[in-house]
Amino acid sequence: MSKVFDVNKIRQDFPILDRTINGNNLAYLDNASSSQKPRDVIQCLVDYYENYNSNVHRGVHTLSMEATDLYESARGKVSNFLGATDPNTVVWTRGATEAINLVAFSWGFKNIGAGDAIVVSQMEHHSNLVTWQLVATRQKAELRVVPLTENQTLDMESLADSIDEKVKLVSICHASNSVGSINPVKEIARKAHEVGAKILIDGAQSVPHMPVNVIDLDCDFLAFSGHKMLAPMGIGVLYAKQEILESMEPFMRGGDMVLEVWNDKATWNSIPNKFEAGTPNVADAIGLGAAIDYLTEIGMDNIRAHEIELTDYALQKFNQFEELDVYGPTDTSIRGGILPFHSEYVHPHDIGTILDQEGIAIRTGHHCTMPLMRSLGISATARASFYIYNTFDEIDRLVDAIEHTLRYFSTGKK
Ligand SMILES: Cc1ncc(COP(=O)(O)O)c(C=O)c1O
Repeated sequence: MSKVFDVNKIRQDFPILDRTINGNNLAYLDNASSSQKPRDVIQCLVDYYENYNSNVHRGVHTLSMEATDLYESARGKVSNFLGATDPNTVVWTRGATEAINLVAFSWGFKNIGAGDAIVVSQMEHHSNLVTWQLVATRQKAELRVVPLTENQTLDMESLADSIDEKVKLVSICHASNSVGSINPVKEIARKAHEVGAKILIDGAQSVPHMPVNVIDLDCDFLAFSGHKMLAPMGIGVLYAKQEILESMEPFMRGGDMVLEVWNDKATWNSIPNKFEAGTPNVADAIGLGAAIDYLTEIGMDNIRAHEIELTDYALQKFNQFEELDVYGPTDTSIRGGILPFHSEYVHPHDIGTILDQEGIAIRTGHHCTMPLMRSLGISATARASFYIYNTFDEIDRLVDAIEHTLRYFSTGKK
């Protein structure tokens, strides 16, 4: 492992990891849901509210100008982090969900019509599925859902068959929150562009965990959430190519997104402000900037390498549980740090509750991927998910706790 990557040192930056839960040290393995926050990010929020708090963009006083500088500099950090060439291609949203909805309402309703098609996959989070159901239904377009292979990777042959001249948009996750599969989004972008379609990448599970470069991927839209990458809740990003953003109508109307207003009409501000109506989430945007500083200092390659090591280790350990079905590819070069499992003998909620008694936080349920669960013939899984501060020791604790749980429920062998 890289010298700069010292997990014990990293853990000291996260105050919450000192907590005990039910008398045990917290093992936080619910990172796909939301990550914990380092002291730098927490302190950045305190600093903002103690020293800079003010509304942005419209003040001539010092605080407002300082707040505006910090806020716009955070936008620049996001832009650099994504390899974008212009900070104005970064639009603040509340999160990935709002970013996808922004594209649906501002771009989708204008550019997708009767007889057109939208391509998604069977592994999409509901936010990247129900949004396109709405567009398809209202516009009388077809929604094509690409199935998965036996080990829950994207069926690339079906994908190729689904992308034809009718397709206006391919909207696909970079990495699945539910089964961990990483999709070859660069190749998918190329296929979409060959037929003149646009591609939206749902980066909610990739941007926090691996290097993502929007120019290299040649994506038209990228959506992600700050809270899954050490930043506060309530801040997220839509990146889009400049010419596409310029061509889009605003999503919401209100202050700051207008240039000039008359009683009966208005003209729109330039990008990205055109899409940022009302007082924005200044503090949390600056907090996302601090989170990006923190991640960048560790290095996204190092973070990805650490998560691969943890996932390889966990997958190997889970081999001992014949009673469990573990989903997702075993090849960790195409898998994020996500470990979903299911036993026909113990309900996932029971597993989650017993693990909590031992201080281990995992998520149980359908993970906002009900159609995916249905395709697997189950209604829920238990899911452990890893991040920069997780350790091999925590995986050992997870494995021991599952072993106790299975023994407690006296499961038979398959
Ligand atoms: C793949 C994926 N897409 C979209 C979302 C939605 O993110 P948010 O709820 O932060 O808007 C999530 C959240 O779990 C996700 O995992």
